[in-house]
Amino acid sequence: MIAVSVYYNAGTLLSVFELANMIVDTHAHLTDKNLTELQPFLTQAREAGVGRIIAIATTLEDSRQCLELVARHDELRAAVGIHPNNCCQAKESDWEEIVGLCREEGVVALGETGLDKYWDDCPWEIQVDYFKRHLRLSRETSLPVVVHTRECAEETLGILMEEAGLGPVNGVMHSFTGPQAVADGCLELGMYISFAGMVTFKNAKEIQEIAAQIPEDRILVETDSPYLTPAPHRGKRPNHPALVAYTLEFLAELRGVSKSVLAEQTTANAFRLFGNW
Ligand code: NI
Repeated sequence: MIAVSVYYNAGTLLSVFELANMIVDTHAHLTDKNLTELQPFLTQAREAGVGRIIAIATTLEDSRQCLELVARHDELRAAVGIHPNNCCQAKESDWEEIVGLCREEGVVALGETGLDKYWDDCPWEIQVDYFKRHLRLSRETSLPVVVHTRECAEETLGILMEEAGLGPVNGVMHSFTGPQAVADGCLELGMYISFAGMVTFKNAKEIQEIAAQIPEDRILVETDSPYLTPAPHRGKRPNHPALVAYTLEFLAELRGVSKSVLAEQTTANAFRLFGNW
């Protein structure tokens, strides 16, 4: 017997064939000023096989704008939340509004959230407080969290493990850069691991070694547009969703599978985590 996975949603049915011909950019900052003229980038994305994109937010205002984009473009869905580098500017009412917004149609995730020790924009305690708010809201709504971590991966895993005692930790480590032990810990919690353009860089051996070993049912791809453009376009700005195809191609070679196999795996994973559309 041949097992054929199909995904039903709102009357659409996607076959394995279609999954293999579609890439999901699971993390793009589409409201960024570098992507103001969005339509040409969306057209290029479609031409490159990037059939679905998640617009990720960093503030309340950005969350609202992501939802406006979703209302205008069928291929988009939104993540709403407050980034660790923006959380200290947020008012208490901002968070209350995020809690309301996340129930709106078109929202598939919370974030981005997490912890950042590279930029000292926001005091650590406030970052931890907001990270925990997103994790609590994720447990309440079943929406996955999109987790950012920079120069504090162990502390981030520590909080995820602590929170796992309160309920399931459902989400993704976005633009993952290591180390291996943190990948292992997150996988053990049931999380997904997403790779952005950085994995394609020559000096990214550690990230590449990790990416080669992530189980096929836990790996995702993203651009993190408009930053970190993948090779061979490294350094060019802006990065945009179509270019996720280069990251996918690089990862496929690294993992010894064809592009279409990795497209099928990562698209099925994205739909399992975020719901399909
Ligand atoms: Ni991001």
